[in-house]
Amino acid sequence: MAAIELNSEKTTDFNHSIASLRDAQIFNHSQRFIQGWYWAIPSRELKPGQVKPITLLGRKIAIYRGEAGKVFAVDAYCPHMGAHLAEGKVEGNGLRCFFHNWKFDADGICVDSPCLGKPVSVTIKTWPTAEKYGMIWVWTGEEAQQPIPFVPELKEDSCDVMLAARFEKNCHPNVVMINAIDAHHFNTVHNLPVDIVFQKKELPENAITFSNITRGGDDSWFVKLIRPLYQNEVTYKMCYWYGSIGTVTLGPDFFHFHIMFALRLTETGKTEGQTLLLTQKRPGLWGWIFNRFVLWITWIVGNYFAKGDTQIFQTIKFDFKTPTKADKSIIEFIDHLEGQTALTWETWQAVER
Ligand code: FES
Ligand SMILES: [Fe+2]
Repeated sequence: MAAIELNSEKTTDFNHSIASLRDAQIFNHSQRFIQGWYWAIPSRELKPGQVKPITLLGRKIAIYRGEAGKVFAVDAYCPHMGAHLAEGKVEGNGLRCFFHNWKFDADGICVDSPCLGKPVSVTIKTWPTAEKYGMIWVWTGEEAQQPIPFVPELKEDSCDVMLAARFEKNCHPNVVMINAIDAHHFNTVHNLPVDIVFQKKELPENAITFSNITRGGDDSWFVKLIRPLYQNEVTYKMCYWYGSIGTVTLGPDFFHFHIMFALRLTETGKTEGQTLLLTQKRPGLWGWIFNRFVLWITWIVGNYFAKGDTQIFQTIKFDFKTPTKADKSIIEFIDHLEGQTALTWETWQAVER
């Protein structure tokens, strides 16, 4: 990161954080990401008995759904001669290579090598998988250490989910993520005359939340208009995992809308992402119909916010040269990220620090 000029506003904490920005080794790094759950493909795109090739954070993977419905992710290349295992065939919970028909079980152990009459003692690397919110997620380490990213308010609920836009952005996922806690830009980009002040909280699940704690903006006509809906502070809350997945919760006191932006780093240090719209399940046919309406409104809200920023993400060359106190949440976000286990693009090996 380029040298940072200290702003004249000085407090010990602030300056301490600025100092740590200079040493950032993960934030906005084109070859590093935090160990965690990352979205692979939508659940509906992988039927029982199907296998598909995916590239996830630089790693080539064969992802398949066993005949009983469970999803498995394994390193793509067969340990015999390197055939791509997504050319193969699902059998039970295992996968058979197309080339010489060696079969690997759910744990990646070779259990059949037809031409030899007995299995060869080799394995393929397997990765933990799970399904939630209509997506298949892969954990980028040996054993999952946290739950799948969730919307805090909906942690215990089953949800109705709509998969909205799949998108690409011309900058790093971390840079896309901080937009939502960039207090300045709500006025300048989104024309929202609200005063947003965030309070951060670290969650035990390796996530961090930023919640607006102001009622603010009472002299603007817009806030006067919506004020009857907000007896409390204006609800606007972000929850972040790995600097790459962010959930937004917003709305009046009596109804909250929820959006998840699930991002991944691409080969060129840019972003590919998937938007998920969520609401808690409601019973019966009317509940189902009501939820379609809620998700449609959520989609409109999400588009409103996404639209203003699109142009910024297209051309930005992120360089945090002059942080100010109004950027405090962004600095806290970077601090949070820097304290986590980082892996290297493609190898998924831990970065030595
Ligand atoms: S390359 Fe897979 S069995 Fe030979
Ligand atoms: Fe924005």
